Amino acid sequence: MSSTEQRSDHVTVFDTTLRDGEQAPGISLDVSEKVEIAEQLARLRVDVVEGGFPVSSQGDFEAVRAIADGVGTEREAPTVAALARCNREDVERAAESIKPAHSQRIHVFLSTSEIHRHAMLRDASEDDVVAQAVEGVKRAREVTDDVEFSPQDATRTDLDFLYRIVEETVAAGATTVNIPDTVGYALPHDFGATIGEIVRRVGGPDSDVAISVHCHNDLGLAVANSLEAVRNGARQVEVAVNGIGERAGNCSLEELVMAVRTRNDLLGRTTRVYTPEIARTSRSVSGLTGYPVQYNKAVVGRNAFAHESGIHQHGVMADRLTYEIMRAEDVGVAGSQIVLGKHSGRRAFVGELERMGYDLTAEQVSRAFERFKELADRKVEIADNDLEAILADEVSASSDEAYEIADIEVSGGTVAEPSATVRLRRAGDGVEATETATGDGMIDAACGAIRRAVGIDATLASFNVNAVTAGVDALGGVTVQVEVDGQRFTGRGVSTDVVEASARAYLNALNKSVRLRHRRQEPVTATP
Ligand code: KIV
Ligand code: ZN
Repeated sequence: MSSTEQRSDHVTVFDTTLRDGEQAPGISLDVSEKVEIAEQLARLRVDVVEGGFPVSSQGDFEAVRAIADGVGTEREAPTVAALARCNREDVERAAESIKPAHSQRIHVFLSTSEIHRHAMLRDASEDDVVAQAVEGVKRAREVTDDVEFSPQDATRTDLDFLYRIVEETVAAGATTVNIPDTVGYALPHDFGATIGEIVRRVGGPDSDVAISVHCHNDLGLAVANSLEAVRNGARQVEVAVNGIGERAGNCSLEELVMAVRTRNDLLGRTTRVYTPEIARTSRSVSGLTGYPVQYNKAVVGRNAFAHESGIHQHGVMADRLTYEIMRAEDVGVAGSQIVLGKHSGRRAFVGELERMGYDLTAEQVSRAFERFKELADRKVEIADNDLEAILADEVSASSDEAYEIADIEVSGGTVAEPSATVRLRRAGDGVEATETATGDGMIDAACGAIRRAVGIDATLASFNVNAVTAGVDALGGVTVQVEVDGQRFTGRGVSTDVVEASARAYLNALNKSVRLRHRRQEPVTATP
């Protein structure tokens, strides 16, 4: 059975973290980060991974291509989807990007609401829009027999016109029609009724054509609307990990999946998602995007399984079901396990990586092992969360870093002015640059010294620190967003020392901007 073959009780989980999720303000994932998230989505067993919008940039094209060539070729691979408008160039670019994947989908979209037709399609008439949509679907069908069409802003589209465009794109060959609530305007009962009518018009819940929904969260109703659609016969839901996406975000993967699972008694539907991987996926996406997960976020927030009041604690100690409707272990937040220590050797380390499902290059393993040994000198017990954090750090860092930190020294504090001296080593020729800077605090000083050594003008746009595990010797994970020439780059770093973690994150972000300049062949000029 192919990964998207439908049965009426199965809900296809179409993940758009790497496309719509990445459109959230300030998120910018490079190729290796997108590939890392796609690998995790494959472990989570989503049905479809929408890797990006290939025509929008060379980076997006390369990322979708790398995903199609990587997880897209594995056994039981998810379908790899690419977004395209209906024109020839978009569809060709999308087709090229997904070529290596076993199972390929082109997702074409076009605006249909009156306001979008006037403001974005130069007053295109309904007939023009139908003609373009039909042409887009036919073009995509020349390349793959798995084609999805989305009438953008469907929930503000005249209903008769919406039904017409659904029927005409199905006749043109669309195998999935996705109904996007682009601006998060729908209310559950009304949206459900519309989906029910569309499902009826395409031949019912067991038709060859699947109806999908893509709900935004502007009124906080994305999950509720998606569930109501499922109740009314939708066979696919489009979701993003941690609910990231344009503005208030998309329907949250973890909430939707756990609602379908927990209330199977009412919904009678299932997904193929391997839920114990949910927490790890959430951490990975949060770390790589720099978007923190709110403490009280359903399913994956740090308080989702925490009980504060005495009465609740008493109840949970007697029987967890008194105050919990899901088991923490079912979503992978059962607590971090101690896996290694100071005396663990390389063999145990590699065995642990394999158990956790990592497939790293020999170079990545060597670098990660070095980091593990350094960490083991400072921290008695290494938990799986620690390993995950240093691996993520190494995977993003080892993909062709321009500079690495050879040494860092900080001094000063509340009385003396904070100062930092940083020695950086350039990859390739090994040339070193040492710079010193002062700042408002030690982190500021370290970032200033790095900026000088790399020779780039950069502004820190956001800074986020969190503890990877509990305890005074916990690893600190830092995510920063840095602006260089009007463009944002996300960097991350981990260490038991928060200044070092910050310096690593800052350098990781600057390295990305250096790489981009190299690709564009621009010289890196030192700031005075
Ligand atoms: O929100 C939206 O309408 C979209 C489409 C491209 C599906 O993201
Ligand atoms: Zn969207």
